[in-house]
Amino acid sequence: MQESLTIIDNRTGKQYELPIEYGAIRANDLRKIKLTDDDFGLLSYDPAFMSTASCKSRVTFIDGDKGILRYRGYPIEQLAERSTFLEVAYLLLYGELPSQSELDQWVHQITYHTFIHENIKKLMDGFHHDAHPMGMFVGTIGAMSTFYPDAKRIFDPDVRQKQIYRLIAKVPTVAAFAYRHSTGKPYVYPDNDLSYTANFLNMMAKMTDRYKPHPVLEHALDVLFILHADHEQNCSTNAMRGIGSSHADPYSCVAGAASALYGPLHGGANEAVLRMLLEIGSKDHVPEYIRRVKEGEFRLMGFGHRVYKNYDPRATIVKEVADQVFEVTGRNPLLDIALELERIALEDEYFVKRKLYPNVDFYSGLIYQAMGFPLDMFTVLFAIARTSGWLAQWNELLHDQEQKIARPQQLYLGEGERDYIPMSRRGTPVTVFGQ
Ligand code: CMC
Repeated sequence: MQESLTIIDNRTGKQYELPIEYGAIRANDLRKIKLTDDDFGLLSYDPAFMSTASCKSRVTFIDGDKGILRYRGYPIEQLAERSTFLEVAYLLLYGELPSQSELDQWVHQITYHTFIHENIKKLMDGFHHDAHPMGMFVGTIGAMSTFYPDAKRIFDPDVRQKQIYRLIAKVPTVAAFAYRHSTGKPYVYPDNDLSYTANFLNMMAKMTDRYKPHPVLEHALDVLFILHADHEQNCSTNAMRGIGSSHADPYSCVAGAASALYGPLHGGANEAVLRMLLEIGSKDHVPEYIRRVKEGEFRLMGFGHRVYKNYDPRATIVKEVADQVFEVTGRNPLLDIALELERIALEDEYFVKRKLYPNVDFYSGLIYQAMGFPLDMFTVLFAIARTSGWLAQWNELLHDQEQKIARPQQLYLGEGERDYIPMSRRGTPVTVFGQ
């Protein structure tokens, strides 16, 4: 028997039967519910997409109540323990774990696309010395579409594949150049003998000799990249799909997705957590800070999630990675404040009632800081990893026959039609600007 939903419109007494598929009705079926024949039909109103599925996807699965996260069916815990970031990127994009030869070929392609055009370097030189690296990242990735005009041919599989190699390979280079620019240090070119993460760390830290990262730190960064690689229909992925739906080239799409990531409620939270811990300053100030959060003065950054209402499985893994990193770097003194915040918050009725738990960003910033990354690079690190997920979702979008240009409806609550008023008859101004 087909599952269905019966709706009675109490305005007209008419009854409608809407099919249910995959636990959802099609919002478009609501349009059959009309007061009159020329009525537009019923809409569903869902600001922030709280209860609206915008696509069918096979990439990432989350069960927020049970704290489950899987990429292509593989539990995040197993991938973090046994895989590598580049293997995970392949999995996200192509749906299966690669064979050894597929992996070798994939890693080779990524490794040999890491260099950026010298003019991109010059373009980055033009940023102000204290430009935020995330702003530089967004601007530079957007500008890259002008360097690869063939990228517009998004329905050519070979062209699309080439841009996927380029983007995944070049985002660490752009990120590291943004950092070197902001510190006034010479750019370090990619080193093809190094792994994806070791090469990135080398481009960040090298002075005269090649930088040799401690294997624990290189591995920790790789695990953090795996944890951040995808997260189904989050704010930035939704931006990626929204821009992609207009058939823009992938550089413009990734620049738009990265802009969405930049905000403090999304990927910008890792930087905001660190600034919050620095502001709190000591364990003794935690209760007072929690009191102010509860009074609604500001949010506890790194806490809460739209989907996870039990715990964020990524946060559990990040905490384990933090222990390994601190054994090498020494304990981050801010950890005590973070642990105290978590302890008090998890006991406090305000947080318990609202199901607010530490998310992936609560501890990741502490690791990045201990590894020597400046605060304003944290969100850029997130963007490097998430580029693979954005591209996987973009690829899926372009193959989805049901997708069209994204174009939500609105409920118009403004004025009805009225006649233009000449200036001489407008009377005393009502404040419009600066109100
Ligand atoms: N601190 C204090 N109160 C909070 C917090 C917080 N971090 N998060 C949510 N609440 C409260 C909120 O005030 C509301 O209370 P009430 O019902 O009394 O009005 C209730 O919890 C529900 O909040 P919401 O804003 O409806 O929840 P949301 O699903 O729209 O927001 C969120 C999700 C992640 C934006 C939010 O929890 C938040 O702002 N957290 C802090 C920023 C953060 O850490 N972001 C990183 C998210 S994980 C990384 C990523 O994927 O981007």
